[in-house]
Amino acid sequence: YSPGALQGCTVMITAGPTREAIDPVRFISNRSSGKMGFELAAAAQKTGARVIVIAGPSGEFLAAGIERWDVETAQQMYETVMQHIEDCDIFIGAAAVADYRPATRSAEKIKKKETALTLRLVRNPDIVQAVAALDQGRPFTVGFAAETHRLKEHAEHKRCHKQLDMIAANWVGRPGLGFDSTSNALEVFWEGGHVSIAQATKAQVARHLIEIISERYHAQSSA
Ligand code: C5P
Repeated sequence: YSPGALQGCTVMITAGPTREAIDPVRFISNRSSGKMGFELAAAAQKTGARVIVIAGPSGEFLAAGIERWDVETAQQMYETVMQHIEDCDIFIGAAAVADYRPATRSAEKIKKKETALTLRLVRNPDIVQAVAALDQGRPFTVGFAAETHRLKEHAEHKRCHKQLDMIAANWVGRPGLGFDSTSNALEVFWEGGHVSIAQATKAQVARHLIEIISERYHAQSSA
């Protein structure tokens, strides 16, 4: 693990869940803690990079000296990423962005009725895909994939479909791994390459992943 490996580079990381409001008191969200993204930020900072984190609601601690923009919704996360993406060399989409939001946000608290309630959901922008599609100043773009089955196939499909430089896939729904938990294990794929990161604390896994990203980033920019 080399300190200084990303000296002079700017790394942007999205982290945590997003919240999509239904009415003033309710929202749709997910189990992401933000821990993996925050650990990646700390690991990137140790390589000498300037680090910008765009964070959804998270109770986790973020290391000092990291630029942090707090957002709530996927739309806000998208806009904040786009405002600061210029001059970023590496983008890591570690946030668990809600794919859908309620079509309308009720201004008043929705009252309970005797009948069933239907919520109409509309798509949110795909942030990592939008970053990978940038014409100018496109950073080295890394996505995550949380999978419950056929991990390699789904991860490789996502990498190609979203035109990512790299994808880090983890199993979800297995005890002790992924979302909500303190440890993780990753399968990392890029064009023509693959590395497994064995189960370890999220801090250790983050350091290993930043090392791989740094290697691939330098290999690609000198090619
Ligand atoms: O397609 P899926 O949601 O599984 O892809 C996961 C990857 O895409 C993660 O890197 C996540 O941060 C990113 N993503 C995003 N914007 C979305 C949905 C997912 O940036 N709206």
